[in-house]
Amino acid sequence: MKFFVDTADIEEIRDLAATGLLDGVTTNPSLVAKAGRDFFDVLADICACVEGPVSAEVTAIEFESMIEEGRKLAALANNIAVKVPLTWDGLKACRLLTQEGTKVNVTLCFSLSQAVLAAKVGATFVSPFVGRLDDISHDGMDLIADIKKIYDNYESFTTEILVASIRHPGHVVEAARLGADICTVPPVVLRKLASHPLTDRGLEQFLEDWRSTGQKILN
Ligand code: E4P
Repeated sequence: MKFFVDTADIEEIRDLAATGLLDGVTTNPSLVAKAGRDFFDVLADICACVEGPVSAEVTAIEFESMIEEGRKLAALANNIAVKVPLTWDGLKACRLLTQEGTKVNVTLCFSLSQAVLAAKVGATFVSPFVGRLDDISHDGMDLIADIKKIYDNYESFTTEILVASIRHPGHVVEAARLGADICTVPPVVLRKLASHPLTDRGLEQFLEDWRSTGQKILN
């Protein structure tokens, strides 16, 4: 399973990239607004720091302007994946941008029928939003399981399932259990994946016992 980080905060991205755990980055207009920086500067910084796909979202909602924006974003770096919303115009834009050789991430996917269409137009990634489904009392992970089953039925469906709107480590573990291709994880959740109170307690005890020996590994 690949890990993308879901943020436009370059400091967080640099820090997490140094672990070797990052396979890509996803941004969206809300995350860019939160970062409070120029969109193009942010993308240049991220693409210089991460080799894998960096999702940059169009803000146009009509086909022609989506294509114009998508081409401009794609020209910024080889690893840009243009993000388009799962609308008719977005699907049309996905098809054309994909035919032009651009990676496309179809975002805001909330249903199986939408996921089928994303695969039909050749999206590189489809982003089902599990947390937002959970928020309205649906089970986001059920959608992931069903998309996976359907995609596995057809060799021609090569779209990768990019689990988005992740809220806690359980979402990541369940996505891995279901065989999703990628999770895009907020930095705070990514860090939580490594933590366990028994690890902290165990380490504390080992260090205390080690100190009592008066020995050192390095002098
Ligand atoms: C995905 O690419 C989106 O940026 C993101 O996962 C949305 O998550 P949210 O529901 O926490 O805003």
